[in-house]
Parts: sequence; structure tokens; C-alpha cells
Amino acid sequence: MIIHPQIQGCVARNCHPIGCRAAVQQQIASVKAAGPFNGPRRVLVLGASSGFGLASRIALTFGAGADTLGISFERGPSDKGLGSAGWYNNIWFRQAAEQEGRIAINLIGDAFSDALRQQAIDCIRQQLGQVDLVVYSLASGLRVLPDGRQVRSVLKTTGQPFSGWGLDLEQDTLVQQSLSPATPEEIRDTVTVMGGEDWQLWLQALQQADCLAPGVQTVAYSYIGPESTYPLYRDGTIGYAKEHLHATAETINLQLAELGGHAWVSVCKALVTKASAYIPVLPVYLGLLMGVMKERGVHEGCIEQMQRLFAAKMYGPHGVVADGNRLIRMDDHELDPAIQSAVSALWPKVTPDNFHALGDFAGLRQDFMELNGFELPGVDYGAPVDVASLTELLP
Ligand code: NAD
Ligand code: NA
Repeated sequence: MIIHPQIQGCVARNCHPIGCRAAVQQQIASVKAAGPFNGPRRVLVLGASSGFGLASRIALTFGAGADTLGISFERGPSDKGLGSAGWYNNIWFRQAAEQEGRIAINLIGDAFSDALRQQAIDCIRQQLGQVDLVVYSLASGLRVLPDGRQVRSVLKTTGQPFSGWGLDLEQDTLVQQSLSPATPEEIRDTVTVMGGEDWQLWLQALQQADCLAPGVQTVAYSYIGPESTYPLYRDGTIGYAKEHLHATAETINLQLAELGGHAWVSVCKALVTKASAYIPVLPVYLGLLMGVMKERGVHEGCIEQMQRLFAAKMYGPHGVVADGNRLIRMDDHELDPAIQSAVSALWPKVTPDNFHALGDFAGLRQDFMELNGFELPGVDYGAPVDVASLTELLP
């Protein structure tokens, strides 16, 4: 079977499993090139199969020799198709980690459920004993609460409606997109799905089960961004959820005090992931930002961000490096006033006719394709993929 990319709007409908292997290997090579650091030895990663979570896991295993349990919600091969990129990322990561003698366990299922929490606890007890770090990197549009109620997050603004050019990756063009103001219920629901409640439930359950090692740390990922994106993000429903996440870090931090542990939020830079490509209008900012940051030699992809987070800002010579609000600022380069004034000068000029000339939309598109295993260097996309042997692989 020859696999061609199927992109619909800003969503990839398929993946190239062999390309996904090359993408995982590329990230491993990047971490190895950056050199080893003294990090945590046993790590639980929630949302381990793609984006920041996968990059965290790769940075910790191949940079600090960590054994990991990774949790994700992914589709394997079925009559509906070959399965999701994250499914294969889990497989290729585990194979590579095991080759180096590391433990790498994948649990596939709903991380919001008590059943999966129990499974994870059993697994930690049997195979890792305890964990030294819990990475919380879930991104989801839906949370099924422990009582069975389904809650959906929305991507809307608050206050005034907001509109602007958005990116259509399928057609490689810009389209007008608008965000309407959310209702109070929609804000509340988005906080329920993407806020800190589930993070706290995880840490509570793990602590009660004695699965957290003395001095344990936990980190969740957030975004703030520059003022020009506030209507899209910080003052949007997702921004409310992140505010809740930040507040929850303080609650968890108190809870972990008896173990000498700490809870942190890392405020990351805007990057192309499955989740971020889906936020209206934001990808246009992202394309401009990528152009400006590359031009100035300060661009980072997911793997470079996560490698720097752990090696320099959490487990480096200065321990955890945080600002006055206890936030770890991985958005330091993005928010550099020189970078932001360059982006702000370009943004009002963007039209469907000139966007490629103004920003690095080719680079953004390349990153998006690579997330799904397409357009990676060294992969022969003309060669048929052996579906039968892929179907035998288990996460
Ligand atoms: P992603 O879509 O690449 O990864 C999400 C992960 O969550 C996947 O591993 C997926 O399998 C898992 N997941 C989703 N629902 C699940 C469920 N019910 N049970 C188990 N696993 C589930 O997204 P990402 O961009 O890496 O986002 C991770 C975090 O980083 C989010 O909190 C996001 O807000 C934050 N962040 C992202 C950016 C960015 O620019 N992409 C910037 C700053 C912060
Ligand atoms: Na992730």
C-alpha cells in the first residue's frame, strides 16, 4: 500500500507509519546531539504520544536515561484505516528506548477515567516502583467525568467577537475565520476539560497510592502568548482553562509539600502540533513567528523546547528556574520585544496573496506534515507500506 497524505482543513486524516518512525528518530537524534543531563529516572507522561508530551518523553529518556510510562488516547489499525500517528509514535518510541535498555510502557485509554488511573498505579507499582516526575500534557476536546457526564471544550473568545485570516492547510490558503464570544457555560466547560482538575486528580491518586517518590516534581504545559493574540488565546476559553491550570499548580504544590515535592507550570512557546493547528487564526501568528524566529536564529521546535526545559530550566545546574509567579518561562524567546515588534509589523499586512512571502508558512506546513509522518527526509514515500506487519505491532 502506498500512502498519500489526506488533509482536511487543519486536520490530518491519515498518517505514514514509516514516516512517523523517522520523525521519532529525528527527535531522538536532536536530544542526543544536545548531550546528556542529570534528570529524573522514572517518569509518568500523560499525553505521551504526540506534540509536547512525546517530545518530553524523548528528551527525558534519551537525554537523562529515564524509564517512562506513557499514557495516550490513540487508534490502532482497523477496517477504518491504519490508525493514528500517535499510535505508531508510541511503538517506535518504545522500540528505540528498549534498544537502549530503558523501560518504556504505553497505556492506551482515557486518561480522564478512574479506571485508567488505577491501571497506571498498578503499572507503576509493578514496573517502576514510584515516579520522580509526572508530565501533564493532555490536549482534548472532550472529557468524560468520573460520573459519566460528557463535557466538551470550545475554542471561542470572550467579550467582543474576533475575526481575522486563518490558515487552511488543505488548500494552502488563508480564509476568514471568526471567534464568537463564549457563553458562561462554554467557559466553564472548557475549564473542566482543559483546566487543572484532572491534573490534581492524578496527583492525588498517585500520592494516595504511594507512587510518588520523595522530592517528586510535576509539570503541566501552558501558553500565554503576546497581547496581539489575547483575543484568540489568553482572553479566550482556553485562556480561562490555563488560568485554572496555573491556580491548580499551587494547590498541588501544597499537597506535595509533605513529600518535599513541587508542582510547576511551564509556559511554552507557540508551536505546530495537532492541537494548535486547530485553533482559529492562531496558525497565521505562528507562521509569522516562525519566520521571524528563524531569521534571528532562535527558532525551536517541540523537541528543542522540551530538551531545554528539562536540561536547563528544571534539572539544570540552577534547579528549577521560574519567574515571580512560579511559572517556568519557555516562551522567553517568543516574547522578546524585538521578536514581537517584528511580528506585529507583519501581521496587519498579511493577505492570501502575500502570506508565503511574509512568514514561514512553508516551514509550518512542513512541521505539520512531519507530525503525521509525511515529507520526512530519508523516507521513500514511493515504496509500498507493509500493512500486515504494521498490524502486528503493539504499543
Ligand atoms: P497534542 O494533540 O500533540 O497531544 C495531546 C496528547 O494528549 C496526545 O498524546 C493524545 O493522545 C493525548 N490525549 C488526548 N486526550 C486523551 C485522553 N482522553 N486520554 C489519554 N490521552 C489523551 O497536543 P500538544 O500541543 O502537545 O498539547 C499538550 C499540552 O501543551 C496542552 O496542554 C497544550 O495546551 C500545551 N501547549 C501547547 C502549545 C502549542 O503551541 N502546541 C503551546 C503551549 C502549551
Ligand atoms: Na502532548
